Amino acid sequence: MIERESKATQAGEYLRLGIEERESSTLIGACALFSFHEASRRAEMGYILRSQSWGKALMSESLRSLVNYGFTNLNLNRIEADIDPRNERSERVLQRLGFVKEGHLRQRWIVSGEVSDSALYGLLRSDWEART
Ligand SMILES: CC(C)(COP(=O)(O)OP(=O)(O)OC[C@H]1O[C@@H](n2cnc3c(N)ncnc32)[C@H](O)[C@@H]1OP(=O)(O)O)[C@@H](O)C(=O)NCCC(=O)NCCS
Repeated sequence: MIERESKATQAGEYLRLGIEERESSTLIGACALFSFHEASRRAEMGYILRSQSWGKALMSESLRSLVNYGFTNLNLNRIEADIDPRNERSERVLQRLGFVKEGHLRQRWIVSGEVSDSALYGLLRSDWEART
């Protein structure tokens, strides 16, 4: 997996980073920037954490670094997230980082027969700079 992700990073396809718990040296999650649109300087963000590690602000801490890297090192102007509106934890993560809810798209996904809506969130570089 590390080999695959490293190749994708080198090719500029996407950036997916593992999150390791310091005490146990265990891989507990991942966060990513993908769907880069170079001319518009934007990308999408995704994230996942094992459930035993929820509620400790680990993802917020990880995403703060990733977002910062996206705006400063990758020179992005906008980062987007597409989440299931029923996913309240995920919504709170985005809100803590300053993402703004920009839209609600009905029945955007059908995964294994389950239909779900999308809540679209966006964060501008200017939003981020105003907070830091
Ligand atoms: C989305 C997901 C990463 C959120 O995990 P999380 O642990 O709730 O998020 P964080 O790591 O930011 O932790 C925030 C929680 O830690 C708590 N917390 C504990 N110590 C804290 C501290 N020092 N500072 C801030 N928050 C703290 C917060 O109160 C918050 O809990 P709350 O939302 O109930 O108030 C997780 O639910 C997940 O992986 N879900 C499955 C995958 C998924 O849905 N991905 C998103 C779709 S792309």
